Amino acid sequence: PDQQTFYDAVGGADTFAELIHRFYQEVARDELLRPLYPEEDLGPAEVRLRMFFEQYWGGPRTYSEQRGHPRLRMRHVPFRITEIERDAWLRCMDVAIASIDDARMSPDHKQQLRAYCEMAAQMLVNTPMGA
Ligand code: HEM
Repeated sequence: PDQQTFYDAVGGADTFAELIHRFYQEVARDELLRPLYPEEDLGPAEVRLRMFFEQYWGGPRTYSEQRGHPRLRMRHVPFRITEIERDAWLRCMDVAIASIDDARMSPDHKQQLRAYCEMAAQMLVNTPMGA
């Protein structure tokens, strides 16, 4: 099926739910990242990131129905993001990606996902180191 999306190829909603849940388990334990999240409960942030990833990779468009245009750069302005925060975020995502069984998400798909995250995280750096 050449019309199959990345979302479908890797197992759809279940896979994205597992991925993003694992990501936030790491954020919760990260001394640098955890204080950036304004809410005590990481649950709502988890839902927003999950919906965004589902939409980006060809799944349901619930994110934009609920949140409008992603405008990620603008939405991250309130948070001080240097290369250090970027690397911490990517480390959490690496743990999450590695936790997904290769039978569900092939190494090639994992590499695509990682490459996208690296590009997106770099785009969200908004503070020079030392500032
Ligand atoms: C929201 C931090 C990278 C997507 C947030 C929030 C924080 C944060 C603190 C607020 C949590 C909330 O939703 O209440 C960071 C840091 C990053 C980073 C430190 C390091 C570079 C990324 C990347 C993506 C992303 C790479 C996407 C590929 C989102 C989305 C939201 C969000 C979709 C929710 C936006 C909304 O609808 O309000 N991020 N983020 N973030 N982040 Fe990030």
